Amino acid sequence: MKVMTIFGTRPEAIKMAPIIKEMEKRKEIESIICVTAQHRQMLDQVLNLFQIKPDYDLNIFHKGQTLTEITTRALEGLEKLIIQVKPDLVLVQGDTTTVFAGALAAFYQRVKVGHVEAGLRSGDIYSPYPEEANRKLTGIIANYHFAPTERNKKNLLNEGYDEKNIFITGNTVIDSLLHVIREDYIFQNEFLNHLDYKNIKTILVTCHRRENIGKPMESIFSAIKEVVKKHEDAEVIFPIHLNPKVRNIAYEVFDQMKRVHIIEPLDYEPFVNLMFRSYIVVTDSGGLQEEAPSLGKPVLVVRKETERPEGIEAGTAKLVGTCKDDIYRELNLLLTDKGEYKKMANAVNPYGDGKASERIVNIIINKMGT
Ligand code: UD1
Ligand code: UDP
Repeated sequence: MKVMTIFGTRPEAIKMAPIIKEMEKRKEIESIICVTAQHRQMLDQVLNLFQIKPDYDLNIFHKGQTLTEITTRALEGLEKLIIQVKPDLVLVQGDTTTVFAGALAAFYQRVKVGHVEAGLRSGDIYSPYPEEANRKLTGIIANYHFAPTERNKKNLLNEGYDEKNIFITGNTVIDSLLHVIREDYIFQNEFLNHLDYKNIKTILVTCHRRENIGKPMESIFSAIKEVVKKHEDAEVIFPIHLNPKVRNIAYEVFDQMKRVHIIEPLDYEPFVNLMFRSYIVVTDSGGLQEEAPSLGKPVLVVRKETERPEGIEAGTAKLVGTCKDDIYRELNLLLTDKGEYKKMANAVNPYGDGKASERIVNIIINKMGT
């Protein structure tokens, strides 16, 4: 059977890579890889690491792209491709605009859709924006829902989806993570190699969500800045997203701050190995909320809601919102109160056991083969 994977951004590539690798091992599947390239550099970083060579690259990326541009450019390119390739199944992963466009393009050609990382819900259509809507819209179209957790399955059941099409698989992000984490990892970047991780408190920061751009992001960065000023043993490492709107805010707020290191986006391998050595993670990223608990790193989630409450229930993550005072208080607490820190620094794995890809591919073969 022909299975076409469609993806376009960094996190989709990281989470789709182990599925592609698994499909390559199976004689029942002809794997066809299509990237929309909604992201360019940040996607290519992952393709290089996992040595994935797309069969088709729509190269839709352009700087400052709007949601409508991403959607229409992806849809147009994918329509032609799906008509040409005639896949038996299209696989999409997550909640980006590429995911929605990929599912819709397949549906228009009456091609079956498998949705990886299905069933996550924040409950607020505007947050994360536009991801909550993308994920729901994709769910409506999908024939098979690969839900990472029991809760994700329940969300789908509550919305009336048929149980026989929902499969709890774990999240493939853990498959990728286990593949690249190393105790003895050596960074190419000399600065990261020589950081004294044992004696300084490294705060790993990422922040990029559309709904945080503007005032919320200013508050998040200001809180981090004030905390770092207070704690001389704290250093911030911020591999910053390529979005210029994020960069402008960060450069302005962190201007002249000695212990805040804004660096270019890291390749996935050094990035997760940096997380493994960090003391605390502050983020609005979806993927980091899944990776950090697995590595036993306390995560402060700088968002008003999350579609990933499992890490919070497990005690490793805390939803701290986007108000400066709240973030300051929680980050300060983690840096000063060892008991509080220890309570959160437990390795838990609510998101998977590293075998999600194997399960997903088995299900595809079982379902599509009959
Ligand atoms: C997208 C996804 C978001 C996901 C995030 C992962 C949508 C609507 N958003 O958000 O769900 O969490 O990716 O990072 O699908 N840019 C570059 N080079 C790149 C990538 C981005 O220069 O390789 C810059 C461009 O100026 C671009 C901007 O970042 O206009 C935003 O990129 P875009 O894909 O529109 O949204 P993200 O914020 O990256
Ligand atoms: N990541 C990376 N380099 C970086 C920052 C993040 O490889 O400099 C990885 C991270 O490990 C995670 C994924 O990118 O797997 C998260 O992507 P992002 O935060 O862009 O998107 P989200 O998960 O919020 O959709």
